[in-house]
Amino acid sequence: MRILGIETSCDETAAAIVENGTIVVSQALATSLALQQKWGGVVPEQAAREQLRSILPVIDETLKEINASPKEPNIDAVAVTYGPGLIGSLLVGVETAKTLSLIWNKPLVPVNHLLAHFYAAWLDNSPPLFPALGLLVSGGHTDLIHLTNHGVWTYLGGTRDDAAGEAFDKTARLLGFPYPGGAALANLAKSGRPGKIPVPSPMLETKHFEFSFSGLKTAVARICENYNPLAETFRADLAAGIQEAIVQVLVRKTVRAASQYKVHSVIIAGGVAANEYLRILLAQELKSLKPTPSLQIPKPSLCTDNAVMVAACAHYLYKPTPFSSIQADPSLSLKIS
Ligand code: KG4
Ligand code: ZN
Repeated sequence: MRILGIETSCDETAAAIVENGTIVVSQALATSLALQQKWGGVVPEQAAREQLRSILPVIDETLKEINASPKEPNIDAVAVTYGPGLIGSLLVGVETAKTLSLIWNKPLVPVNHLLAHFYAAWLDNSPPLFPALGLLVSGGHTDLIHLTNHGVWTYLGGTRDDAAGEAFDKTARLLGFPYPGGAALANLAKSGRPGKIPVPSPMLETKHFEFSFSGLKTAVARICENYNPLAETFRADLAAGIQEAIVQVLVRKTVRAASQYKVHSVIIAGGVAANEYLRILLAQELKSLKPTPSLQIPKPSLCTDNAVMVAACAHYLYKPTPFSSIQADPSLSLKIS
């Protein structure tokens, strides 16, 4: 079973062909990162225009890689992210996928982008086992879910305001890094001392699985106010403090949920899963649970937005749907299974 996955929910235009949900046979990706850096973030209309410019070349490249052509695509189904995301961007992928499935006479499978992030972990040599816990930490989302089977999950909690990646990016900007500054902040944090400048870790002690990161930016802005320009050691210590505050709360709640639901695997997905400190601390803390759940983190290129995860998700949750019943849904969430 070869599925062509299409992903256009935000600023990445991606296509991939995945066999049996496990083997990536080809993939292509275009990103408007350079434009975002220029504007300091994603500008929805710009992102949609870039999607339009890139969608056909990206799909064409993906087909060419397997010596296929639009006349003979050599695939069994088309899968597409139908939400959540930016409406203009989503529409480009959804309408392209509908058109291709119609002219190729192939089944069309709609995919929830957030759920797809977890399916990047099923491309590992040893995929996750159910029951599993999924922590999605990206620039736009922070969600914790309990998965008991393919397509069967309970929503445990999420952010009430900013996403974890957004908290990294907003505080990174205060430290002078260009957007998106999460990785640069994490890099600077390596030379800093985490306890030196305490940064509040919101909702660390609360019993529920909700998060709140919007106060962090204000707290860091206050700390910076009195120090201008920021000395290099101060910047590094502050970066370490920020990273500590964000990662501690993510790890604390994930480990508590893993213990409460007695899961066999813990999956972290999304761009922030690339954070080394998060990976190390979570692996370390999970060891306190017996039996210790396996920690599944997709490789970095599959943590950020991609189409491989869309095709993989469609394989495990194969629900062909008439094109007339599929509509781009910008506010789709994980709250309803
Ligand atoms: O999944 P993703 O592409 O976001 C969305 O599409 O929403 O992830 C991007 C996010 C950005 O906020 C970026 O700063 C963050 O992931 N990020 C990191 C690291 N690498 C990427 N945050 C912390 N540490 C990192 N090493
Ligand atoms: Zn995403």
